Amino acid sequence: MSDRKFQRTLITSALPYANGEIHLGHLAGAYLPADIYARYLRLRGREVLYICGSDEYGVPITLTAEKLGISPKELVDRNHASIKDSFARFGMSFDNFSQTSRDIHTETSQAFFKDLFDQGVFVQKTTDQFYSPSQQRFLADRYIEGTCPKCHKEGARGDQCEACGSSLDPTELLEPRNVQDNSPLELRQTTHWFLPLGDFQDRLVAMMDAHPEWKDNVLQYCRGWFQDGLSDRAVTRDLNWGVPVPLPDHEGKVFYVWFEAPIGYISSTREWAAAQTGPDSDPEAWRQWWQDPGTKLVHFIGKDNVFFHAVMFPAMLMAHSEDYVLPDNVPANEFLNLEGQKLSTSRGFAVWLPEFLDQFEPDPLRYTLARNAPETRDMNFTWEGFQARNNNELGNNFGNFINRVFTFIHKYFEGVVPQWSPEVMTDLDKQALADVEADLAAWAGHMERFEVKAALESCFHAGQVGNRYFDEAAPFKTRKTDMDRCGHSLVVSIQIIAKLVVMLSPVVPFAMEKVWDWLGMQTDLWHGGWDEGIDRIPAGRTLGKPEILFPRLDDEIIQPQIERLNKLLEE
Ligand code: MF3
Ligand code: ZN
Repeated sequence: MSDRKFQRTLITSALPYANGEIHLGHLAGAYLPADIYARYLRLRGREVLYICGSDEYGVPITLTAEKLGISPKELVDRNHASIKDSFARFGMSFDNFSQTSRDIHTETSQAFFKDLFDQGVFVQKTTDQFYSPSQQRFLADRYIEGTCPKCHKEGARGDQCEACGSSLDPTELLEPRNVQDNSPLELRQTTHWFLPLGDFQDRLVAMMDAHPEWKDNVLQYCRGWFQDGLSDRAVTRDLNWGVPVPLPDHEGKVFYVWFEAPIGYISSTREWAAAQTGPDSDPEAWRQWWQDPGTKLVHFIGKDNVFFHAVMFPAMLMAHSEDYVLPDNVPANEFLNLEGQKLSTSRGFAVWLPEFLDQFEPDPLRYTLARNAPETRDMNFTWEGFQARNNNELGNNFGNFINRVFTFIHKYFEGVVPQWSPEVMTDLDKQALADVEADLAAWAGHMERFEVKAALESCFHAGQVGNRYFDEAAPFKTRKTDMDRCGHSLVVSIQIIAKLVVMLSPVVPFAMEKVWDWLGMQTDLWHGGWDEGIDRIPAGRTLGKPEILFPRLDDEIIQPQIERLNKLLEE
């Protein structure tokens, strides 16, 4: 496995915009798959750091803040706190969750820029851009509206005319206006710094060629861009909400968000290192994670972020005078639809995480999203599907098996794991254990390759093996005729449960931490729990009392959710 050459894994999830709440589409793309992978590695006892934070600059944030009559900083602090809280309730196990509006990010991104600047990497260009005298600022294309030069309809946007479909440059618009206050605009010259991506194309192509294992969607996008040839990308903007460009005579200029936000991964790692305490802590420890070739860097993203993580940010890392590691993989996910329709945050057609968590447990959602992960194509979330996954799979397959076995041991063996000996094992016993071993091996292989959906299939199969074994070995019958045989069946069952816990824990961590406890395990599940989980549970150990792990979800709680979304669709 490609992992052997790495000592540690640095995982990132795309920094969420601090411009609203997290919804299910976000979770399915860049967050849950990364959390599952991070938990998997911790379970295996590997060294891992999982980094994220909120992305807090850019025009949309300024506009929302203006609408609410608060400062952008107030807005992002508020949203950051809320995002961080709902992520925590959902079980996201970030090692650090920072903000790009913090000083450490200003310093880190400015130093990064200066390094490239001093080497003469950037090129300067002067262009004409629309300026709003009423708001005293330059406007991004989508905030400019005017009359289409082709079809002469009003209301064409700076980037395209919806009426005739032409794609436009804002300077072509007749009577250009500011979308927000309808005031007239003027063209002004402005000077910006650009990253000449073409200079890095050969090295980027070599990087991609070294990774035939990357997902098809990522490779296909990259090949397309390379074919067209990479062009210069602006790294500065005329705005007042952003990281200031650290050069003389650059008043009013800040970094372009897509230049500065990915550097946020580095800032967040530095913040993490600085916050560590204890004898081995070292504020410079971030360097090991970013600059030591023993680090495997993995960026989890949605498909709309591929360019920035597979092209732009790697080019920036290559350009830096210090050696940075390049991504070893960029698992990009497709999108999640809702009840068969595209999500629309502007219409409210979405399921928001904080509201969801006020009514439901996180585990069933994690399970449903992982089972439907949009790995290779867009997937669909439906409330009925969610209910079925919870009731039929979590409840009937896993929960039921775990519950039956623990309850039985408490009822007939005083909660103590029965004695057993290898000679008394039947073919049925051996076959069940071998089947689950095989599922476990397949599961681990899928996890290494970020194939969450396939991993869960192996896990689901192991649950079926457990249930079938329990029915066929029938300890509920043998307890009346052959208590020793009955004990053996329970020993086999409890071994299967330990392996099921290992397989399920990255996906439904809240429930599996409980079962880990009932099993009386000695190791911390998240510090190499795998080793103890695949080992034998010793005879004579007293087990904890079980409780219902995955309560049923009835129609009364699911139907109102469906009705809310249907109403939105009718509007
Ligand atoms: N905020 C961006 C989005 O939600 C992602 C930023 S990823 C980073 O699409 F690398 F730039 F941080
Ligand atoms: Zn038109």
